[in-house]
Amino acid sequence: MSKLLPFVRRIARAAPDHDARTGRMPNAEKFISIEGIARRYPAPAGKATTIFENLWLPMRRGEFVCMIGHSGCGKTTVLNILAGLEAPSEGAVIVDGQAIQGTSLDRAVIFQGHALLPWRSVLGNVAYAVSSRWRKAPKAEIEARAKRAIATVGLAGSEHKRPSELSGGMKQRVGIARALSIDPKILLMDEPFSALDALTRGTLQDEVRRICVETGQTVFMITHDVDEAIYLADRIVLMTNGPEAKVAEIVENPLPKDRDRTQLHHAPGYYALRNHLIDFLVTRSKTLRDAMPEDYDPRHPPIVRPALSEADAAAIAAEAPARRA
Ligand SMILES: Nc1ncnc2c1ncn2[C@@H]1O[C@H](COP(=O)(O)OP(=O)(O)OP(=O)(O)O)[C@@H](O)[C@H]1O
Ligand SMILES: [Mg+2]
Repeated sequence: MSKLLPFVRRIARAAPDHDARTGRMPNAEKFISIEGIARRYPAPAGKATTIFENLWLPMRRGEFVCMIGHSGCGKTTVLNILAGLEAPSEGAVIVDGQAIQGTSLDRAVIFQGHALLPWRSVLGNVAYAVSSRWRKAPKAEIEARAKRAIATVGLAGSEHKRPSELSGGMKQRVGIARALSIDPKILLMDEPFSALDALTRGTLQDEVRRICVETGQTVFMITHDVDEAIYLADRIVLMTNGPEAKVAEIVENPLPKDRDRTQLHHAPGYYALRNHLIDFLVTRSKTLRDAMPEDYDPRHPPIVRPALSEADAAAIAAEAPARRA
């Protein structure tokens, strides 16, 4: 991997806000803006442990962002803050121009453990969410919307089953249907597929991807799975190890939005991207925790485009024989 690193172009170093050159997101494009948040917990002797601080991250509307980092770096904490389940110790999160305060049906969470109501049927679980969102809607309308969401995740025909009658993958589908049924502005997912077998995980990733692309859903998802991030994300946020974790980089996924899982590994830039992510998890997540580059600016973490580097490498390789001639 180290051979690839020199080709990885870091863009976000220049001070002025020339977006094309720096890769920075213009303010007008920020749909979600995490602005300098910190999370601290009390520690013995009256001190505080800082899980992370001064964390900045903008997201566009319709963007699929994955966050990757080792256990304990604060990923779930960031997601909980986005959901409004936890308040940051400092900083704020702005969604669609408004600072969030507490939970909202605009932000739906899909938990790793699906958190279904065991006494309700599939339809009952989803309809309950729909009726919380549209309190005055007639029952028939609520059921119709819930059934549409259930069909979207491939569970038509299982509406009357209870969670105890469903497999793990089916339960997770109900969780996804429930989240989608309320038409949220943001979908927040905390390792939603990690407890599933590989086959079910793949199918659900396909479904979530299809639904998000079709509906233009804005998604923030945590995963430990590099391949899942490559398949799903437009941008991948890399966190250094904790405590005092930082956004080390924001990696732009160069693969086309229209992706086919079975052909992914043939796409130009795939291996550069995958190697970059694995190299980060294996070594750089720790080395960067211990020492960030001097010009690191937490407000504008470096934007990295591994595929551009590959194109550069190809261009250099093509030029080399000509130079030698
Ligand atoms: N209530 C709490 N009191 C003290 N420390 C806490 C509390 N909740 C979380 N932490 C600490 O915050 C850190 C970040 O936790 P978090 O669950 O966000 O990590 P994570 O990146 O999601 O990890 P994982 O990948 O294992 O899910 C951990 O070190 C955890 O011990
Ligand atoms: Mg977590």
